[in-house]
Amino acid sequence: MSELYAFALLLHILSATVLFGTGLGTAFQMWMADRSGDVRAIAVVAANVVRADFVFTTPAVIIQPLTGALLIHIAGFDPKAPWLLVVYGLYALTGACWLPVVWIQLRIRDVATEAARSETRLPPVYRRMIRAWFWLGWPAFSAVLVIFWVMIVKPVLW
Ligand code: HEM
Repeated sequence: MSELYAFALLLHILSATVLFGTGLGTAFQMWMADRSGDVRAIAVVAANVVRADFVFTTPAVIIQPLTGALLIHIAGFDPKAPWLLVVYGLYALTGACWLPVVWIQLRIRDVATEAARSETRLPPVYRRMIRAWFWLGWPAFSAVLVIFWVMIVKPVLW
């Protein structure tokens, strides 16, 4: 294994860890804050989740395919190999779930911050957004788990 390959693989795996860990950690914090029913806690946690997505998840989302492409190039994998096509599809699915989640989190932050400031209850739209956030999280989380498996096993699919 060349030094460049080892370095790219290290970056790729570190970035996968950040992607998965930040997603799981922020989802847990949002869920627990929501369950507490404490409007101020929800506002603070939502603001920090938005920050974490910007500082950690966004770079990881970019680094992941870049280092992946570098690994394909150096190792001489066929970029159209079935296991890679599955990864591209699952990664696109994850992104399609994540982008609306980012928008929802921004809205949740704003709505909760406003409710905390004016000492009012959370509006009904908050509940609808939390539900959408929850149900978009599951396919994204499951897809990343499958990607981990495909990356490690590289199954011969067809
Ligand atoms: C977005 C497109 C992606 C491409 C093109 C890609 C490509 C690759 C390639 C070519 C390898 C090298 C395999 C080897 O040397 O054995 C690899 C390894 C790996 N990838 Fe990805 N990857 C992508 C996304 C992801 C994602 C989203 C994750 C997890 C969140 C992930 C996790 C891993 C892991 C853990 C390994 C190490 C597997 C091993 O060494 O056995 N990858 N990836």
